Amino acid sequence: MNTDNRPPWAAPESLPAHVSIIMDGNGRWAKSRGQDRTQGHRAGTETARRIVREARRLGIRHLTLYTFSSENWERPKHEVSFLFELLVSFLRDELPSLMEQNIRLHVLGDVNGLPLAVRTALNHAMNKTAGNGAMTLNLALNYSGRGEILHAVQALVRQGVLPQDITEEALASRLYTAGQPDPDLMIRTSGELRLSNFLLFQHAYTEFHFTDTYWPDFGVEEFHAALAAYATRERRFGKTGEQIKA
Ligand code: IPE
Ligand code: IPE
Ligand code: MG
Repeated sequence: MNTDNRPPWAAPESLPAHVSIIMDGNGRWAKSRGQDRTQGHRAGTETARRIVREARRLGIRHLTLYTFSSENWERPKHEVSFLFELLVSFLRDELPSLMEQNIRLHVLGDVNGLPLAVRTALNHAMNKTAGNGAMTLNLALNYSGRGEILHAVQALVRQGVLPQDITEEALASRLYTAGQPDPDLMIRTSGELRLSNFLLFQHAYTEFHFTDTYWPDFGVEEFHAALAAYATRERRFGKTGEQIKA
């Protein structure tokens, strides 16, 4: 993006370094049009493509998309298989564009619990994009926030870290997001006002933006509106407003 003509909310110092998104409402979007839920997921994939591209264009350094939760295994079998087929084709189709946009792909979640075809496609895309540095695209897949914290604690114990050395930094460095900043802005579509086990440790001080729009209808303009609203927030981190302004 041409940095000279940016609106104030899109100035580099006003943009969040990390945006996390709960892409929700695909099923209801489809139902409202008399379609099968799977058609909602297909349309949602197009939204994801557009938002990734726009985040990159604006210069957002980290984008996390909640793609499949550990709890989503409870859904009907055909819906789960459809979601994974969509993911494999998304990875195949998007790889050239990720390379062209200099985007690194990373996964948050238990990759070993994913079907082989998905693991293969993910490993291929992650290896190919490993050297890309403009933006990190995290896909939260087979992801559970509580599970992630447990996994990090198990790593600390396995590595023999002494109790007095178990600091917040030591724990954070064993999370799937190790080395990345916490999300500054979390967006959830579809009107649900909950976290659904998403980045429980990392969202400690994140600003939240909720919209009633279903994910397939979430467009670039609404993304801009969320970023513009974020730019007006006063983040206090426990301090007083006067301290922040000083
Ligand atoms: C989000 O849309 C996609 C996934 C959770 C995989 P949903 O499928 O949850 O859509 P709703 O919430 O049922 O409308
Ligand atoms: C959260 O959405 C998971 C993803 C968007 C991948 P859900 O639709 O699964 O969340 P709940 O069940 O409504 O809390
Ligand atoms: Mg949902």
